Amino acid sequence: EFIDEMMGISHLEESLKKKLGIKKVIIVPGNADEDDTVRKDIGKATCKYITKILKNNYIIGVTGGNTMHEFANCLQGIKKYENILVVPARGGLGKEVEIQSNNIAAVIGKKLGGNYKLLHVPDNITKETLESLILEPEINKTLEYIQNVDVLIFGIGRADDMARRRKMPKSEFDYIMSKGAVGEAFGYYFNRNGEIVHETITIGIKLENFKSIKNTIGIVGGSRKAEAILAISKIKKDLILITDEGAANKIFELI
Ligand code: BG6
Repeated sequence: EFIDEMMGISHLEESLKKKLGIKKVIIVPGNADEDDTVRKDIGKATCKYITKILKNNYIIGVTGGNTMHEFANCLQGIKKYENILVVPARGGLGKEVEIQSNNIAAVIGKKLGGNYKLLHVPDNITKETLESLILEPEINKTLEYIQNVDVLIFGIGRADDMARRRKMPKSEFDYIMSKGAVGEAFGYYFNRNGEIVHETITIGIKLENFKSIKNTIGIVGGSRKAEAILAISKIKKDLILITDEGAANKIFELI
């Protein structure tokens, strides 16, 4: 029965990869919306996968979120990479410290035995303050690293969930929903075709950078996030997607 299930999953991985037209798909059994341990399994699958691709001189970009938190948690006892540098992909995307990209970058950097940089940007900052922040040498250096990441590991959210988590004002929320926002990643909100409908004012990775990163690993589970996954798959054809059966099956219902 176990073999049957594994055969089923590898078949599902192959069909989803073709359907989305992306580089690679890894699927763990279950649905994260119904069972929290599934998100942990996505974290574990990510740990397993990255050990195959990491190199000692790499710069790794990470986002925050619960899925990324699970990934950071399971990086126990992994091989050490002294020269690896971990940076948060984008600054100031929420107040929950545990699942903030800064914290996740620090945890991952330490567990890999390498270094990390933090990006301190307050939420709801004005464009003017942002522009002067960018000129700070320390921040500027970190931004340079961010523009040169070799691997990006990031969470993918539903637009409505992420807008609420970040306490977006109602008028703005209604506006992005009217524009068809379904997915969110590193501060950008996308419609189902992968077009930007809103961008959070902050610093860090830009969509143009994102498009040219060689190793991009999106980690996301739960059938509720199917449309968000569809949106991201539209803009990054060499995406490596680590997800669950719940999301995979829902995507097949949608397209
Ligand atoms: C956030 C990322 O921290 O995590 C977002 O910045 C992403 O871009 C989100 O959408 C996903 O979070 P979770 O908790 O659903 O894994």
